[in-house]
Amino acid sequence: SIRVLRSVESVRRWRKPHLLDHRSVALVPTMGALHEGHLNLIRAAAKENHHVVVSVYVNPAQFGIKEDLASYPVTWESDTATLARLDRELADDGANLGRISAVFAPTTADMYPSGFPGQEVDSKGSFVTITPVGEVLEGASRPTFFRGVATVCMKLFNIVQPERVYFGQKDVQQTVVIRSLVRDFMLNTEVVVMPTTRAEDGLALSSRNVYLGERRRKVATVLWKGLSKAEEAYLRDGTRERKDILGAAEEVVHGILEAQMALPPSERVRFEVDYLSLADPQTMQEIEVVDPAKGGILSGAIRMLPVEEPQEGEDLGHSGGPAVRLIDNIILAPR
Ligand code: PAJ
Repeated sequence: SIRVLRSVESVRRWRKPHLLDHRSVALVPTMGALHEGHLNLIRAAAKENHHVVVSVYVNPAQFGIKEDLASYPVTWESDTATLARLDRELADDGANLGRISAVFAPTTADMYPSGFPGQEVDSKGSFVTITPVGEVLEGASRPTFFRGVATVCMKLFNIVQPERVYFGQKDVQQTVVIRSLVRDFMLNTEVVVMPTTRAEDGLALSSRNVYLGERRRKVATVLWKGLSKAEEAYLRDGTRERKDILGAAEEVVHGILEAQMALPPSERVRFEVDYLSLADPQTMQEIEVVDPAKGGILSGAIRMLPVEEPQEGEDLGHSGGPAVRLIDNIILAPR
C-alpha cells in the first residue's frame, strides 16, 4: 500500500531500513496534476526498482512572480486516487520489481527551513544555480526557473537518497540541468530520462493543457507539427544547417498562423512563438550546424493567446492568465 509521508523526518525514517536491506529506491519528482506522462515515469521506475517514491510538491521557487503559481492545478484527491489505481496495475504486472511505496507531499515550511526566500531574482537564501544551461531558452524568459528546479531537486535527492531519479524528455532543458546537478555535486544517483508521452494528435501531455479549452487545444499541436517537419528535414533530406532545419519548422508554424488569422475572430486562435531552437544536447547552447556524431535538440515554446469573441457555451479552459505557454522538443539522435 502507498504511504503518505508529509515530513522530511518521516521520509528519513522510512528510508533507513532500505539502505541496509539493499533494496533500491527510485524517486519520481512531480508537481502533481498527474497525467499519463507522469504515470509512465512511475511505470519505468517500478520496473527497475524495489520502491518508488513519488513526490508531489508545487515548488514556489521555480515560479516567477508573474507566473501561474496561484492557479497551478492542485488535484491532491484525484492524484492519490490515480496513484492507488496505478499501484494496483503495477501489482498485477508480474514484470515489475517494485510498487509505489510512498508519496512525499511536503509543506513549504518543511522544504525551506530557513523560511521561504521569495520568488524574486535577487532573493537571499540558499540556492543551487547551474549556468550557462540554466540561463538560456526556458531560463531566458524565466530567470529564477532553473534555480528553483535545481534547488528543490537537490533537497528532494538529499531527503529521499534515491538510487535512481526519473525525469521526462518533455522538459529537455530540465534534464540537462539535473544531469549537471548530479555530476557537479557528486550526487550518488542515476538520472533516467523517459520519452515524452503525447496525446493522439501529437500534443505533449502537460498539466497546463487544462488551461487551454477546446478551441486553443485544437491548434496547440502547431509547435509539435513544426518541430516534426524540422526533424524530417534532418532525417529524410539529410539537412544539417540550422537555417534549413529551423526554416522548415518556421514555415509550418507561419502557415498555421496565417490560416488562423484568415478566420473570423469568433473562430480563430492567435499564438506567438517565444523561440524555436536548435541546440547542443549536452549544453543547450545554440548551434549553427548539427554534428551528426553528437546530434542536437530541437525545441520551442509558444504562447497561445486568449480567445477573442467567445461563442455561446464555448469551453475556454481553466486559464486565469493572459496566455498559455507550451513547450516541446525533439531529439535529433546522433548517427
Ligand atoms: P512536472 O511538470 O509535474 O513534471 C514532473 C515530471 O514529469 C518531469 O520530469 C517532467 O518532465 C515529466 N513529464 C511531464 N510531462 C510529460 C510528458 N508528456 N511525457 C513525459 N514526461 C513528462 O517538472 C516538474 O514537475 C518540476 O520541475 C519538478 C522536476 C517536479 C521540480 O519541481
